[in-house]
Amino acid sequence: MQHFPVFTVSILLLLLSCATHAHNITRILAKHPEFSTFNHYLTVTHLAGEINRRQTITVLAVDNAGMSDLLAKRLSVYALKNVLSLHVLVDYFGAKKLHQINNRTALSATMFQATGAASGTAGFINITDLKGGKVGFGSEDNNGNLDAVFVKSLEEVPYNISVLQISHIINSAEAEAPTAEPSQLNLTTIMLKQGCKAFADLLMASGAKKTFDQNIDGGLTVFCPSDDVINGFAAKYKNLTAKGKEALLLYHGVPVYQSMQMLKSNNGAMNTLATDGANKYDFTVQNDGEEVTLETKVVTARVTGTLIDEEPLVVYKINKILLPRELFKAAPAASPAKAASPKAAAADSSEADSPESDPADQTADQNRAIGFDGEKVVGTVLLSLCLGLLFV
Ligand SMILES: *[C@@H]1O[C@H](CO)[C@@H](O)[C@H](O)[C@H]1NC(C)=O
Ligand SMILES: *[C@@H]1O[C@H](CO)[C@@H](O)[C@H](O)[C@H]1NC(C)=O
Ligand SMILES: *[C@@H]1O[C@H](CO)[C@@H](O)[C@H](O)[C@H]1NC(C)=O
Ligand SMILES: *[C@@H]1O[C@H](CO)[C@@H](O)[C@H](O)[C@H]1NC(C)=O
Ligand SMILES: *[C@@H]1O[C@H](CO)[C@@H](O)[C@H](O)[C@H]1NC(C)=O
Ligand SMILES: *[C@@H]1O[C@H](CO)[C@@H](O)[C@H](O)[C@H]1NC(C)=O
Repeated sequence: MQHFPVFTVSILLLLLSCATHAHNITRILAKHPEFSTFNHYLTVTHLAGEINRRQTITVLAVDNAGMSDLLAKRLSVYALKNVLSLHVLVDYFGAKKLHQINNRTALSATMFQATGAASGTAGFINITDLKGGKVGFGSEDNNGNLDAVFVKSLEEVPYNISVLQISHIINSAEAEAPTAEPSQLNLTTIMLKQGCKAFADLLMASGAKKTFDQNIDGGLTVFCPSDDVINGFAAKYKNLTAKGKEALLLYHGVPVYQSMQMLKSNNGAMNTLATDGANKYDFTVQNDGEEVTLETKVVTARVTGTLIDEEPLVVYKINKILLPRELFKAAPAASPAKAASPKAAAADSSEADSPESDPADQTADQNRAIGFDGEKVVGTVLLSLCLGLLFV
């Protein structure tokens, strides 16, 4: 009996350490006053929060002298965000790993690439182990120039976060290009360019587009069914009344900004642009490890990727059309299958635990930057560890 409080306290401490594992880039850089400008702009551009939310990340920091070159360019805060996000690699590179790159050169995806704002290879950083032990860094869209070299390591928490000093800002014409402010983002253009043409066409042909546009400034999350899905739905869509069509489209927008991390930590009902009363035209967000699904009582759709994530606007791709129960019949006899589905999904996601995915082996792999990248394996393992502790 006497041991009970001690036991409880240790469990609490263990749980607490699971809950507070997250790194804090602002706090890490605050220990190094010569990086105060870089640190300040990570906060101003909201990149600090995005860095903290990631579980595997490398930050290439530039000191105050190096930052003055960048500030002299007088970029808008949006362009500044793109440039700085090019300095955040979505993979782990400690000082040691820099010198152990296969073939002495590698490409790493960055947060600039992950936002969907970069085209082609512009979001990738070339890391090259140069002669004389130097390591060079350059943007892929910079004619093979490596603008910066590795200076020193500021902080390394293996496979979680590495903060490295590099000599100069990495130049990239694309990242520095004048960027539209979120309210000027053309939602339909983004969709057209990134594989959501069919949904964009439906929006433009309906009154729903205006409602989407009007909501961007205040925060908007769009779930865009992929083109093949929409095409297969054409006959059913035609069958809807004009009002029904509009409600169906509005049902794919949520009038608040929901980052992937927020979706993953937020199970429950979500209002949509179509919601016109209590419990009307809403759906339920369910997440299981890394998988986020949207349940409408008629269908369950899965989030399969991100087209753009630039607060206050985020657009995700989904694998099914969200059919509201107000317009479509609920799936018959769905209850037994439904009750089983979370377990089935959990079984699926446990595949990610397989030992073949050794985080130590992480090399710059383009695929991981698209969609959910390297967080997946690490995240699942850590989640299982934390859940495991609950049952000690
Ligand atoms: C890395 O992060 C995980 C949680 O994401 C945490 O459990 C672990 O302790 C961290 N590693 C180190 C060395 O701090
Ligand atoms: C990170 O650290 C800074 C400075 O210590 C603090 O102001 C901020 O609230 C912290 N952020 C988080 C998410 O803990
Ligand atoms: C790079 O390394 C891989 C094995 O690590 C090898 O198969 C490949 O031929 C090398 N490429 C070049 C250009 O040296
Ligand atoms: C990186 O840049 C160097 C120098 O321009 C080039 O030789 C190398 O092939 C590039 N590496 C990759 C992986 O593109
Ligand atoms: C957005 O793009 C579409 C098609 O690319 C165009 O028709 C429309 O005028 C644009 N809207 C704005 C506000 O620029
Ligand atoms: C269209 O609606 C009619 C009448 O409600 C129905 O019989 C028909 O099956 C519907 N067609 C499609 C493709 O859903």
